[in-house]
Amino acid sequence: MRYAHIIGWGKYVPERVLTNADLEKMVNTSDEWIRTRTGIRERRIAANPEDTTATMAVRAARKALNMAGVQPGQLDLIIVATSSPEHIFPATACLVQNALGASKAGAFDLSAACSGFVYALAMAHAVIASGQAEYVLVIGSETLSRITDWKDRNTCVLFGDGAGALLLRASDQPGGILSTVLGSDGSGGDLLIVPAGGSRLPTSPETVAQGMHYIKMDGREVFRFATRVMAKATQEVVAKAGLKLQDVNLVIPHQANERIIHSSMSALKMTPEKVFINLDRYGNTSAASIPIALCEAIETGRVRPNDNLVFVGFGAGLTWAAAAVKWGVPPPAKPLSWWRRLQIALQGPWASLRSWMLRLGRRLYALIPGYAGESLYLPISRTRESPPAAPARSAPSEETQPGGEG
Ligand code: ACO
Repeated sequence: MRYAHIIGWGKYVPERVLTNADLEKMVNTSDEWIRTRTGIRERRIAANPEDTTATMAVRAARKALNMAGVQPGQLDLIIVATSSPEHIFPATACLVQNALGASKAGAFDLSAACSGFVYALAMAHAVIASGQAEYVLVIGSETLSRITDWKDRNTCVLFGDGAGALLLRASDQPGGILSTVLGSDGSGGDLLIVPAGGSRLPTSPETVAQGMHYIKMDGREVFRFATRVMAKATQEVVAKAGLKLQDVNLVIPHQANERIIHSSMSALKMTPEKVFINLDRYGNTSAASIPIALCEAIETGRVRPNDNLVFVGFGAGLTWAAAAVKWGVPPPAKPLSWWRRLQIALQGPWASLRSWMLRLGRRLYALIPGYAGESLYLPISRTRESPPAAPARSAPSEETQPGGEG
């Protein structure tokens, strides 16, 4: 049997704090309304253009790697869970791979909204358990502030930016990720949606004028859904791990709304000491909320070796996900040697140099006589050929569209 153990963790949040008092000046809301309806007091916003989904992910990832003493070159796979990727493509995970200098890692983004981090953890567990990977980096990173309508009080008071990363390693020692539960209900896709900017409704002056590139949400429906699935997924994942609810030492839920967390956890008779909440300071950071909360739970001594933890989240899709984890890592105690500190300091410059050399190599390769006209991956002679004429096709009918019947 192969197990997936968490051996490193790290978080990064932008410096700029946006308080409820700040929001009072922007929309028709009040500190009192936001605190009593959500529990949020302030959130971090990526006001500095240098803070992007990828750069924040890299900062969190470096912390996780350095803590575990693992080099980026040892990574087999990088998964970035995000709903605010840098681009439609390339994947943010590839930008992270390049910035880290993770020369042999595969990399992809995972889109499951706020459940994304636990989905990514389940994928990491699966590739490790099946023997396909030794080291997997799982990151949740979001700059939701950049797809938030700052004039919409229904949504703008809720979200924040940040990133969290976990490093997983294969082991034959029992523990680590014990079980996972994943769920979805696409019939509720319209309840929480960014309507435009994808292939269904490409960006156009009209979509921008109508603010359709921003988050739209039916808060009440999402609230109802969330309280139901959080309790159900927790119950299921605990049973799947062969545990009872009493065996759980700490639940780290998705940090969306304190009322959702209290209502779902009290339905399971989980006392407040067994539930970690930090949304008062960060708001809802979507896929980043669980790893950021885990880092803080560790920092504040709420997680001890051999504890049974549950991560549970819900989000757009609709999706939900839970993971049961046996915590096996004692906190790092030894100070780092000068050699290790030097290695860490050189990681960033080395990754930049490596990336620069790869780009330069690509340019030079194209100039070599004899190779001129060939790209690195595909002979130009093939790309130069005129493509075969496409068969005449009529526009797809309603029935053949995804989601259509028949
Ligand atoms: N300030 C003041 N009033 C407000 C605000 C605000 N910021 N936002 C809404 N209101 C008003 C509404 O307009 C409404 O007024 P009305 O009755 O005149 O229409 C009133 O407050 C009550 O609105 P409700 O929607 O009933 O308020 P509710 O108690 O449900 O709280 C909230 C709203 C906080 C959004 C809640 O529904 C919620 O948290 N839902 C879940 C949202 C969520 O977690 N989304 C993220 C999912 S994760 C992901 O994938 C990104």
